[in-house]
Amino acid sequence: MLNSYLETAIDIAQEAGKILREEVERPPTIAYKGDFDLVTQADRRSEQLIVTRLRENFPQHAVAAEEGTGTDTGSDYRWHVDPLDGTTNFAHGYPCFCVSMALAFKGELLVGVIYNPIYQELFAAARGEGATFNGRKIHSSKIDALKNSLLCTGFPNHKRLSNPNIHYYWDFTLRSHGVRRDGSAALDLAYVAMGRFDSFWEFGLNPWDTAAGVVLVEEAGGKVTDLQGQPYVLGGPSILASNGLIHAEMVKVAAEVAERDTTRQ
Ligand code: IPD
Ligand code: CA
Ligand code: CA
Repeated sequence: MLNSYLETAIDIAQEAGKILREEVERPPTIAYKGDFDLVTQADRRSEQLIVTRLRENFPQHAVAAEEGTGTDTGSDYRWHVDPLDGTTNFAHGYPCFCVSMALAFKGELLVGVIYNPIYQELFAAARGEGATFNGRKIHSSKIDALKNSLLCTGFPNHKRLSNPNIHYYWDFTLRSHGVRRDGSAALDLAYVAMGRFDSFWEFGLNPWDTAAGVVLVEEAGGKVTDLQGQPYVLGGPSILASNGLIHAEMVKVAAEVAERDTTRQ
């Protein structure tokens, strides 16, 4: 059954990806949800397609989609949908954005799909079945020391001033090969799963940003917690994903940063 959920999710993500490919050729139609929080016609068209297809295939399932068009049917099955993760990149024509979809049963994540329609990179995972990149099995990296790692993080588009991340960015930059800031949390997690990055962390992400990426990282042999090393809860205040080998070091550095200023998380 998991494989049939996954196959359907892959088909839908690729169909939504076609919409994003079409839309990226057009002048962007930007509206704002907050001062810097963009939403475009592409977010809305992609979500409409995904929600429609999920309703056709799984009429009983609940759908939580970022732009608010999903329905809570009360089912134990819940789809977490980000129709366009990386909207700011999209609006500027920077080809780092994706569709992200995951299915959970009673809160346990079962399958996840992340699709970058520009590079046609498809990441998929089902619980207990491993993770794949364009159909081939993937594994998180083998780097076992923070000083040899390539990291990634992100900064939110809302409540920017209250976000403590710049301090973490500084410390992790000095202690690793560097920290990338690519603007799509879902792709960042997919890249940890396939070993392009050794770890990713961020504050204040929503369930639709991380749900698919969490299944991918875990099924690729990596580890996901919060920045304190405690179990990650979807929509929780922070997320830390890694190849597992540098996880403890990441948690230790995060604790040092937090201790320097108790007002930081
Ligand atoms: C954003 C991206 C970004 C992250 C932001 C998210 P959106 O999602 O994932 O990388 O730093 O916190 O809100 O708005 O492009 O779907
Ligand atoms: Ca997002
Ligand atoms: Ca989005």
